Amino acid sequence: MTMEFIKVKNYDELSKLAAQIISNQVKEKENSVLGLATGSSPIGTYENLVNEYKNGNLDFSKVTSVNLDEYIGLDENNDQSYRYFMNKHLFSHINIKETFVPSGVNADMEAECKAYDKKIEDLGGIDLQLLGIGLDGHIGFNEPDEIFEKDTHIVTLDPSTIEANARFFNSIDDVPTKAITMGMLPIMQAKKVLLIANGQNKKDILDKAFYGPITPKVPASILQLHKNVTVIFSEN
Ligand code: F6R
Repeated sequence: MTMEFIKVKNYDELSKLAAQIISNQVKEKENSVLGLATGSSPIGTYENLVNEYKNGNLDFSKVTSVNLDEYIGLDENNDQSYRYFMNKHLFSHINIKETFVPSGVNADMEAECKAYDKKIEDLGGIDLQLLGIGLDGHIGFNEPDEIFEKDTHIVTLDPSTIEANARFFNSIDDVPTKAITMGMLPIMQAKKVLLIANGQNKKDILDKAFYGPITPKVPASILQLHKNVTVIFSEN
């Protein structure tokens, strides 16, 4: 693998650098397929991309995006849904051509999973996949498991993930217990992976994921087998 581990001073630097890498990708290939993530880590990155767009330095008119995951039961109008998050932080501010986020409210979730994989395949796969990492090592919502799941699937969220994400909800009981997530195949087939993590509490899991054994008990450890990964980490 080629893995570049970049340690930066703070969240601001992390966000600027991540945005620069994404922006270079779009400038190099105007019809890029971007794999995108939600959560707290990419908010600053998206802010920088929006600013670059507003300053006239970046054009998303040929770009397509596919998001990693969505909570089951939350629709686009729910302010905790990942579709809502993406609209709010990125999509509604830029001229992006087309955006895909898996639906958490399709009556037939099996069909939704299959259609999502088909969509990614039809797009020709992902050029650059942006990832965060969960405290249990999840990427997307691929939680610790006995196997690495290849395809888009439904997951029961780990109690530690529910606890970590409760900060965005009124109470922990409001956090959905299930999600739909992209599997490992499109992530591993992405031409480039950019993983961003900030905070002291992410240090241990980054060590395990990138320097420990490759195991589905630490889902992000599969990235050791990816040919082009950049990790940006800020302790603050
Ligand atoms: C979000 C996602 C998750 C987050 C992870 C880290 O779409 O797929 O894997 O990246 O839970 O979340 P934050 O950035 O909030 O620490």
